[in-house]
Amino acid sequence: MKTRLLKDTDEDIRIAAQIIEQGGLVAFPTETVYGLGANAMDADAVRKIYEAKGRPADNPTIVHIAEREELGRVTFLVTEDMKTLMDRFWPGPMTMIVPRGEYIPYVTTGNLETVGVRMPENEVARELIRRSGCVIAAPSANLSGRPSPTTAQHVIDDLDGRIDAVIQSGPCRIGIESTVIDMTGKIPMILRPGYITKKDFEEALGQEILLDPTLNRKPREGEDFHPKAPGMKYRHYAPRAEMIIFKGDRIRVEAAIDQERAEREALGQKVFVIDFDEDRETVAAHEIFAMLRQADREGADVILAAALPQRGVGFSVMNRMLKSAGFNVREV
Ligand code: TXA
Ligand code: MG
Repeated sequence: MKTRLLKDTDEDIRIAAQIIEQGGLVAFPTETVYGLGANAMDADAVRKIYEAKGRPADNPTIVHIAEREELGRVTFLVTEDMKTLMDRFWPGPMTMIVPRGEYIPYVTTGNLETVGVRMPENEVARELIRRSGCVIAAPSANLSGRPSPTTAQHVIDDLDGRIDAVIQSGPCRIGIESTVIDMTGKIPMILRPGYITKKDFEEALGQEILLDPTLNRKPREGEDFHPKAPGMKYRHYAPRAEMIIFKGDRIRVEAAIDQERAEREALGQKVFVIDFDEDRETVAAHEIFAMLRQADREGADVILAAALPQRGVGFSVMNRMLKSAGFNVREV
């Protein structure tokens, strides 16, 4: 299949919308990461997403809408808490898990009776949804297991020849995926941390909310480990290189990284260091996936990364780093 490279112009968005309408696959920018979109109500089209990504069939996709009115096509239940969160965080990097509406096929939800729904803020994404007349199912536009794509080039590197088109737009503003919050329980629960934090939700709702207790920790030997978002159980965001996260006092961390680097280089290995400023977790969010991809491109044998403090967006970036490293953490 030849992948069409489109621009984010009116005319090209119209072409992209037509492809979606006709059951094809289009990668498009959002403020978080690039998504790989298909008509969420067309089971055959959504099946093609799984094929193109090599994605396990039990990992549900997120349905993207452009306007609040479209929520009725995705779910039948809109609670007061949901309204509060939509008013506060949409359009934006929040995905709500809600009961599945009858027009959303099971392929889209990975056989679940719930569905993830998000209204992105990126104008190209919203215009694509509007023009297609569809609600759009879209996981991140990477090969399954690879770091999420934050530029059009990342998408092309992974999916050229496997999808119908890519809308080439700028780099994504945020750089890590949306916060996934489950609204189907008594108390809302974060299933995947993101740019919108636990504290942000608590301020909006005026109550404490929950974090999936499996987040940011390694499964214990023989443990029945069931993250509530099916996607969170897979080794994710994995660079080809070995990756070690150094955790502890910053000065000791940097000394340990220097020492490890010298030892590895003496063995003839290519070393790639990730050392974000501790106070600039939004910069870290913006850069992390691009850096993991860069390490691979440069043929790194090992990635040495400094841990971030696990608060706010730092918790979310650490979530991605821990998964990339397969929880390979060295306390120093
Ligand atoms: O920012 C984002 O959310 C991006 C852009 C493209 O919008 N999309 C994205 O999709 O990250 P994906 O498919 O890579 O991740 C979706 C996550 C997975 O961990 C999946 O298991 C979870 O959301 N999810 C989706 N529907 C769910 C459901 N009904 N119940 C529990 N988890 C769900
Ligand atoms: Mg993904």
